[in-house]
Amino acid sequence: MSFCNLLEEWYLSVDRDLPWRKNKNPYSVWISEIILQQTRVAQGTAYYLKFIKSFPTVFDLANAKEELVLKLWQGLGYYSRARNLHYAAKYIVNELDGVFPSTYIDLLKLKGVGDYTASAVASICFNEQQAVVDGNVYRVLARYFGIATPINSAKGIKEFKILAQSLLETEDPGQYNQAIMDFGALKCKPQNPNCETCTLAGGCAALRSNSIAELPVKEKKIKIKKRYFNFIVLITEDYNTILTQRKGKGIWENLYQFPLIESIQSIGIDELVVIKEFQNLMEEDDISIQLFNTKDWVHKLSHQHLYTKFWVVRTKSSHSDLISINQINDYAVPRLVDRFVEVYEFEADAVS
Ligand code: ADE
Repeated sequence: MSFCNLLEEWYLSVDRDLPWRKNKNPYSVWISEIILQQTRVAQGTAYYLKFIKSFPTVFDLANAKEELVLKLWQGLGYYSRARNLHYAAKYIVNELDGVFPSTYIDLLKLKGVGDYTASAVASICFNEQQAVVDGNVYRVLARYFGIATPINSAKGIKEFKILAQSLLETEDPGQYNQAIMDFGALKCKPQNPNCETCTLAGGCAALRSNSIAELPVKEKKIKIKKRYFNFIVLITEDYNTILTQRKGKGIWENLYQFPLIESIQSIGIDELVVIKEFQNLMEEDDISIQLFNTKDWVHKLSHQHLYTKFWVVRTKSSHSDLISINQINDYAVPRLVDRFVEVYEFEADAVS
């Protein structure tokens, strides 16, 4: 028996009684699918029943006050889903004369409806051959086929959708889609699935290779920190500047750079001149300060993005630790500083 037929057989044997499965009304199926993206079946059922009781049709939802829609959604979180439901209902009533879209492509045009919801509604209500891929489906497919592509990567999303689609070999794609989702939720559970009694055990790659616990793979999304760098490019009348060496751990250890003032956000000149570190750097009154790049240069490192400004400060003063601008290239500097040195016309500056 095919993968698809095995799951359908299992589904029919379980015969789960869920209220949105009582008919194939696209309005109520749509409501249920949006709610079920937010919570599990056990909690979602009560919300679904409340919603349908208050708004039995798309017209009732369209005519409802937003506060009531949000009130009924309360506790589910992610309130934009509720607002999108309301918005889409009004669109269906006002723009489509209350006729619910009946194809995957048209369903996608509804606000808040993406590939998952469009596939679910199109397959369940209109028998369209569209495979759903939700968290449960990722898990079942990753394990059964032994796929380690991260499910939250662009590559993974594409690969799993293509695979899911290729497995649809049934007259009733809606039934199959619900079968694989139920199977993921009830049998092929994230932790401790009971593989001994599993319908799919015979062909399961992860079971064979003892990698059930490792699949599916999720890429760790690292949190990118934004930092705001202000490099002070000092230029004296006799064409000298200051470079300082970075000390301690962290990025660019021991490399040289123009004096750096880090701010908590992007700043303008008025904010710069009142910063103590900047004032300490200045020795004379007769300075001019010019921002070299009006738009921040964004230098991307693996864990941080550096929003960078180069402030060119011309001065007569004779600071200590000056080096000739001609010597900058003798110092090891970060790529970001090097890029500035490449594009800034120090020579022209010296002549003027
Ligand atoms: N999870 C989300 N939608 C579902 C559905 N229609 N059946 C089973 N589980 C689901």
